[in-house]
Amino acid sequence: MSLLLLFFFNCPNLMRYPIAIVADGTHFALNGKNVAYRFHVDNTTGDLLGDHFGGSVGDNIPLEVIGEVNGWVSDIGRVRREFPDQGRGDYRVPAISIRQSEGYTVSEFRYKSHKIIPGKPALPGLPATMGTEEDVSTLVISMYDKYSDVAADLSYSIFPKHDAIVRSVNVTNHGTGNITIESLASLSVDLPYEDLDMINLRGDWAREAQRERRSVAYGLQSFGSSNGYSGHLHNPFLALTEPSTTESQGEAWGFSLVYTGSFTVNVEKGSQGFTRALMGFNPSQLSWVLPPGETLTSPECVSVYSKDGIGGMSRSLHRLYRNHLIKSKFATSDRPTLLNSWEGLYFDFNQSSIYDLAKEAAGVGAKLFVLDDGWFGKEYPRLSDNAGLGDWVPNPDRFPDGLEPLVKKITDLKAANTSTNMRFGIWFEPEMVNPNSTLYDEHPDWALHAGPYPRTEARNQLVLNLALPEVQDYIIKSVSDVLKSADISYVKWDNNRGINETPSPATNHAYMLGMYRVFNELTTQFPDVLWEGCASGGGRFDPGVLQYFPQIWTSDNTDAIDRISIQLGTSLAYPPSAMGAHLSEVPNHQTGRTVPVAVRAHVAMMGGSFGLELNPAVMDEEDKAAVPGLVALAEKVNPIILNGDMWRLNLPEDSNWPAVLFIAEDARKAVLFVFQVAPNVNHSWPRIKLQGLDPQASYKVDDGVVYTGATLMNIGLQFAFKGDYGSQVVMLEKQ
Ligand code: GLA
Repeated sequence: MSLLLLFFFNCPNLMRYPIAIVADGTHFALNGKNVAYRFHVDNTTGDLLGDHFGGSVGDNIPLEVIGEVNGWVSDIGRVRREFPDQGRGDYRVPAISIRQSEGYTVSEFRYKSHKIIPGKPALPGLPATMGTEEDVSTLVISMYDKYSDVAADLSYSIFPKHDAIVRSVNVTNHGTGNITIESLASLSVDLPYEDLDMINLRGDWAREAQRERRSVAYGLQSFGSSNGYSGHLHNPFLALTEPSTTESQGEAWGFSLVYTGSFTVNVEKGSQGFTRALMGFNPSQLSWVLPPGETLTSPECVSVYSKDGIGGMSRSLHRLYRNHLIKSKFATSDRPTLLNSWEGLYFDFNQSSIYDLAKEAAGVGAKLFVLDDGWFGKEYPRLSDNAGLGDWVPNPDRFPDGLEPLVKKITDLKAANTSTNMRFGIWFEPEMVNPNSTLYDEHPDWALHAGPYPRTEARNQLVLNLALPEVQDYIIKSVSDVLKSADISYVKWDNNRGINETPSPATNHAYMLGMYRVFNELTTQFPDVLWEGCASGGGRFDPGVLQYFPQIWTSDNTDAIDRISIQLGTSLAYPPSAMGAHLSEVPNHQTGRTVPVAVRAHVAMMGGSFGLELNPAVMDEEDKAAVPGLVALAEKVNPIILNGDMWRLNLPEDSNWPAVLFIAEDARKAVLFVFQVAPNVNHSWPRIKLQGLDPQASYKVDDGVVYTGATLMNIGLQFAFKGDYGSQVVMLEKQ
């Protein structure tokens, strides 16, 4: 097949890579630095058939050989389909299911046309990756079902530099009656392999992002979220790998859904041996009615391909998200060391104890003080978690003069040994309401509910219906009023329960659209505020939130040893720059474990937003004395964590010595973290072999000894520890 070049950007960035999008009639090629994606239209059926998604290939590729067709599975069930519709003999899980007004659920989408667009159009109302015409190009394939007059526009955007292909679908009803979209996957891909492993991140509150790897079996393997948000239980992320793929070797495909609502991931090995992966809306919470002339846009799904193992897959996602997803100006810079009041004081404070804590924070070198839960509520003061949510006014008993004078006093403080003024941040949970609140007294109808069914409470609270414009407006106004009332430069936006009763399944997605409007308006109105997402820890750690908030509180579990696996698990899909991580008190409030202060701090400084979550006044003297030095170290490594590439050298699930190397963007500096979990007595010490360095270059290691990259990668470094819970942080500098 000779490819006719229909599309070419005369731009320096794309010039370094093969041409991003090539269309030869109805054969399509998307090309990245190390990735090729190929598909074509079947001339007979009009179906879109996948040919390749993997490493680079030449112009001519062998097409699928289909043997004798026998049995109940007809041709359509034996091919690799890009947009599998329902009801015509492909018995694998479909990417779309539409109930037409007559009740049919059959669809027949055939290719109609295609177009190539420079750059990448925004998705209406939804978060999405973005880039200039130099960064990304888009191919839109229009499919049409002539029986129902429904169009499906499949969008494929390629970021060649990141080996990333981003997909989404627009479904438009051109008919005369309402249709109902019962399911819609953002991504659907059939890989021609029988033996694959799948990796996903499962968990629960306080133990998020546990890496789960299993081989894909025949039949359907499904996971997702049904609690209205991306949730703690499963992250909207999937990797498929060869069974032999490791962190550093082998093929890995990563899929990441840019969405904060309930979702479903289906991985199905069909009877013919191909493996289908779908990611998108959770069908049990969709039933989206589409009147004539209207369009439903799916969230987008990012796919990356790596030939360098799971680590390579993660680094592609990290770079893409740092550069082309997170809108905040703080995406890769300026994350002050903070002290958050939660674990230090919980709900038990007044303005003088808050000021004392802020002074303590400044005294150990923090640059930002964050007032967490408990500062608000007038008629229903928030003294515990059973009142006040929804009433975003300072509690007059705790702050008789409002917030402003206190904020002024705090922002007049100087962080220890600097001339830097402290900044002030504040906690909100704006999507929620306590029945004990003025807001609920006035607007009980604003809480999500389903007719007469009881409104189930969790943490004594209900969820506001963000699908309602009046609720969105109330939140925007009440949050902006507080932000305008004082010098507030940081917001922690929390969300502490799932969604249960809704007026209809479709409310779930309508809520998301409303929530994104609120996020967008507030972050646009307050671009100088550093926004942090949170949902009982990492209950909404997803790319949708990251579009607006450059960092997310990774977990309510602040135990350093548990945090190693939570943070490394989270890093499968998300850049370390996005993780909030704090040094907290011992014994740890969640696990009861006591870990040395240096280890606690070293784990936390692997997150882009390093902080303290304790009251220094009650710390052990020796521990407290160590904090300023640890803060200084965190600030030294922070630029590398924010911008650098992460190499997971040893995983906590495999090794007693988890180790991570971060290499700065310009490759001139690197920082190595090595931990010991259990004691090692009368036994040799492991060699930590570095990765990702330039083998020819020389690197000065902390103590001044210079080694070549080859030496560091082929021999490695050794460390001896004593007792449980050791750690080492080593700086490397290219000579
Ligand atoms: C959630 C958050 C915590 C803290 C509390 C306050 O659990 O994850 O960090 O803010 O709420 O109620």
